[in-house]
Amino acid sequence: MNVLGIETSCDETAAAVVANGRRSLSNVVASQIDLHARFGGVVPEIAARSHIEVILPVIQQALDEAFPGKSKQQQWAKIDAVAVTRGPGLMGSLLIGVLTAGTLAEVFDKPLFGVNHIEGHAYANFLLDPQPAFPMLSLIVSGGHSQIVLFKDHFDYQLLGQTQDDAIGEAFDKVARIIGLPYPGGPSIQRAAEKGNPDKYLFPIAKLKGPYDFSFSGLKTAVLRRVQEICGQDYNFPSRDLPGLLDETMRGDLAASFQYIAVKALVDKLVAAYGAYQPASVTIGGGVAANLELRRQLTQDLPLAINFIPMDLCTDNAAMIATLGFYTTQHRQPDKLSTMEIDPSLRM
Ligand code: KG4
Ligand code: ZN
Repeated sequence: MNVLGIETSCDETAAAVVANGRRSLSNVVASQIDLHARFGGVVPEIAARSHIEVILPVIQQALDEAFPGKSKQQQWAKIDAVAVTRGPGLMGSLLIGVLTAGTLAEVFDKPLFGVNHIEGHAYANFLLDPQPAFPMLSLIVSGGHSQIVLFKDHFDYQLLGQTQDDAIGEAFDKVARIIGLPYPGGPSIQRAAEKGNPDKYLFPIAKLKGPYDFSFSGLKTAVLRRVQEICGQDYNFPSRDLPGLLDETMRGDLAASFQYIAVKALVDKLVAAYGAYQPASVTIGGGVAANLELRRQLTQDLPLAINFIPMDLCTDNAAMIATLGFYTTQHRQPDKLSTMEIDPSLRM
C-alpha cells in the first residue's frame, strides 16, 4: 500500500511516498529557511504564500522520484491513500496543505486522512529497519513541542510529560538570537558549541512537580542575564545590541554551556521514564533530535541503545506523515475534506 504524505505545518513544504508504512520511495522537502532567516524566525504570511507557490511542484517531484518514467495518471494509480498534517502548526500553512491534499484526493478518488504532526515525528521511527518494538518510549523535541510519550501500541499512548512553557527548539532559537547566531538556532548553536567549553557557565535545570515535565523559559532568561553580566550591562541595555559585545570565545562557551544543560534536562527525564516504565524500545523525533550532544548524552546515560533516525527524518518532512498515514488507514475510516478540522493547537 502506497501512501502519499503532505506536510506544510510550518516553514517546510514537503511531500513523500511511503510503501506499507516502512519504506520511503521518495521524500521531498522544500525549505523556506532562506526566506525567513533575515527576519530571525518564521513569518506566517510569507510561509503560507511560499507553500502555495511550491506545493504542486513538490508533490509532482515526490511522485516522479517514487515512480520514475510513469505518466501522471499511472503515478496516481499507484497511490492508495493521501495523508496530510491537519495540526498543530500555522493556520495559513496548514490550510494550504489540507486544501491541496483534499482536492487531489477528491480528483483522483483516494481516501484522505488528516494526521497529527507531533505523532508524525514519533512515527518517523517506523521507517527504521528493524522497526521499534512496543512498548516504545518516545522523546519528541522540536521547535513547537517537547514531550515524553509512552506508546503501548499504535494509537494507544500516554503522554508522560511535556514542557510547561517554551519548547526546547524554541529555546535554542531564542538563545541563538541573544548571543548573535543565525536562524535556525539549533544547528548554529551546535556548530558554535563545538569550539566552546560546556563547563564555563553554570545554567540551572528547572525543578518541576511532574516527574517527566520540562521548562525552558527560565533557562533562556538565565542565558540573557549572564550575557548582560559578561557585557557589563543590565536589563536596561537593548538586547539586540548585546551580540556585538561578545567575542567568538564567549559565544562558543555560551552555546556549549546552554546546549549541555538544555540537553541534560531532556536526557535526565527520559532516563527516569525508562527506569519507571522499562519499555522495549526508546525513540527520538523532531528537529532537536538531530542534535549531536543529545545523541551523545543518550548513548552515554541510557541503559538501552537507541537506533537513531537519520537527520532528514528528524526535521519536518512528509515521509513521517505518510508513515503515520499508513497506520491510520489500518485504524479508522477516512476523513472528508468538507468536515476535516484544521487545528493549529492540536495536541497529542
Ligand atoms: O521538527 P522541526 O523541523 O519543526 C517543528 O515541528 O518545530 O524542528 C525545528 C526545530 C528548530 O527550533 C531548530 O532550531 C531545531 O529544531 N533544530 C535543532 C537542530 N536542528 C534543528 N536543535 C538542536 N540541534 C540541531 N542540530
Ligand atoms: Zn515538526
